[in-house]
Amino acid sequence: MNNPISPDLSVTVAGIRMKNPVLTASGTFGYGREYAPYFDLRELGALVTKGISLEPMAGNPPPRICETPSGMLNAIGLQNVGVEAFLQDKLPYLAELGIPIIVNILGHSLKEYAEVARRLDGQKGVAGLEINISCPNVARGGLSFGADPRLAARVVSRVRAVTRLPLITKLTPQVTDICRVARAVEEAGSDAVSLINTIPGMAVDIQTRRSRLGRINGGLSGPAIKPVALRLVYQVCQAVSVPVIGLGGIRTAEDALEFFIVGARAVQVGTANFIRPRAASEIIAGLRDFLIARGEASLKRVIGSIGV
Ligand SMILES: Cc1cc2nc3c(=O)[nH]c(=O)nc-3n(C[C@H](O)[C@H](O)[C@H](O)COP(=O)(O)O)c2cc1C
Repeated sequence: MNNPISPDLSVTVAGIRMKNPVLTASGTFGYGREYAPYFDLRELGALVTKGISLEPMAGNPPPRICETPSGMLNAIGLQNVGVEAFLQDKLPYLAELGIPIIVNILGHSLKEYAEVARRLDGQKGVAGLEINISCPNVARGGLSFGADPRLAARVVSRVRAVTRLPLITKLTPQVTDICRVARAVEEAGSDAVSLINTIPGMAVDIQTRRSRLGRINGGLSGPAIKPVALRLVYQVCQAVSVPVIGLGGIRTAEDALEFFIVGARAVQVGTANFIRPRAASEIIAGLRDFLIARGEASLKRVIGSIGV
């Protein structure tokens, strides 16, 4: 029997064993090192990196973020150092942490996704790939890969063909039926799905009558999107048999527990990192306290325990 003082928080997602189910969300935790002054990164269940593309990307013109009620809009434009600089300058530090490192990847064509994945395959310290399918597809006039189940599946198949790394496909909420996309990527070989990415939104400065972002619109994140995310996670948990990673507006252990109860195997903490850099660490401690207070030995019995 487990020691009641130390409940078992471990989970396995996409074949990746994690000592707890709390991950950091892509784009909200830099390349990891930026958060090292705030807490011991080895506490994390896993760390998800900023989205990595084949070539470096400069991102959008500023302003790139703005605050909105209970949330924020961002139009970063997928700024990142590119896969080669990531391998040389960022991965060695992450690989030393000894926790699973999941690299979030993006592309503007099927070929680009596959090439990024191929270069990450077999690299020491890379535990898995999270495929961001919310990117604009250049060949289809900018419609996102994730908006079409067939196209989403093709991204996964192409990546699957070049790597044996565990694959997590990150779904966009901007679709009519997210379950169709989830089932399509599962069939194409995705070992898990994560959701949700940001929800498109807009804010206007009434003085200048211009968008408050350098681009017309951006992606909404933070507590404002939590109820939307929770419902979609619940639906996808019913639709697929691969593990589901839930995210969207999680700030506290209580928020995370809602996602576990609807069936998420793990959670990611995003915007909360900008407000409380120790948020992920506090959520891990809060989950432990929750189980101890109820005399539960393991988180596993909480997962999917929603009543009807
Ligand atoms: C500033 C910023 C940058 C982001 N960059 C990425 C990215 O590169 N790749 C990705 O898949 N998601 C990215 N996201 C989306 C988050 O990982 C997450 O899906 C979303 O913010 C919802 O979670 P949250 O409400 O906890 O922040 C970004 C979000 C923010 C706020």
